[in-house]
Amino acid sequence: MQGSVAPSSDSQSMVPGVSPAIYGEADFRRIAGLIHAETGIVLSERKKMLAYSRLAPLVRRSGLTSFGAFLDSLRDDPRTMTEVVAALTTNHTYFHREPHHFEHFETVVRPELLQRAQAGADVRIWSAGCSTGEEIWTLMMVLLGRDRAAGLKLARGRLIALASDISINALAGARAAHYPASALEALPEPLRRAWCVPANAAGEPRLGIDPAVQALVRFRELNLMGEWPMNRAFDVIFCRNVMIYFDIATKERLVERFARQLAPGGYLYIGHSERVSGAATALLEPVGPTIYRRKGHA
Ligand SMILES: C[S@@+](CC[C@H](N)C(=O)[O-])C[C@H]1O[C@@H](n2cnc3c(N)ncnc32)[C@H](O)[C@@H]1O
Repeated sequence: MQGSVAPSSDSQSMVPGVSPAIYGEADFRRIAGLIHAETGIVLSERKKMLAYSRLAPLVRRSGLTSFGAFLDSLRDDPRTMTEVVAALTTNHTYFHREPHHFEHFETVVRPELLQRAQAGADVRIWSAGCSTGEEIWTLMMVLLGRDRAAGLKLARGRLIALASDISINALAGARAAHYPASALEALPEPLRRAWCVPANAAGEPRLGIDPAVQALVRFRELNLMGEWPMNRAFDVIFCRNVMIYFDIATKERLVERFARQLAPGGYLYIGHSERVSGAATALLEPVGPTIYRRKGHA
């Protein structure tokens, strides 16, 4: 096939058994087109070999001998398509990422939410693009606070936390809710002491998220590009380091949808390199670096 490139010998040795699957420029363009249409993610040319090494194990498992045949087969195989999407997403995340967001949440937003909770109202939080869970666990620990007894009392109220992602692999990690102990060192010590528990593990020491925190969070597979099944508004939405992979039109559409999914006075937190632009600027006011508030509150 003209223009085809066999993967470099390095990549072949990473994924033994796929050498017959010649991987060409056209295959990469098809993969990039599929993934953009399905998820909004733009795969740049730099990701060409990364796409190869992430997908080659799935091609090998399929028994098909070329990427082209594998890509053809996806049309009738939504389950494998889900795995392809999961393989091509970037799930990098960590506890207490961008600490200024959690400081703002703790000092400005949390007192408002506690008042609402004490008055018997629902408090609704969404981590959109939650990856392996570090973001929603950090947020819930900050919400429950450093005093475990007070936090447990709060947890008996009407707190509703949704954490969603398109990647089934990332969601499996989030639901498992245990991490290397070193990963939790980024958390403020009082929160770690209050809300982390030893997890059984051979080898490296691991910590789990306290079952009382876990009980508050519902994890869902959700493609942000599709329909959203939630019909009620949220008080807080975190969507951080997700939109960086999207083109500008997709970002603007998405941020407007987030703005409309917020209750008046609700807060949107986005990643440090992301911006609100387009129609959403009429709905949101900036209240801190990459923190926005839905207009229309008292
Ligand atoms: C880099 S992680 C960010 C995780 C976390 N929000 C943070 O800031 O640490 C980006 C996540 O967005 C998810 N994602 C990408 N496109 C998506 C889409 N169309 N719908 C839902 N999730 C998506 C990826 O699967 C990935 O887990």
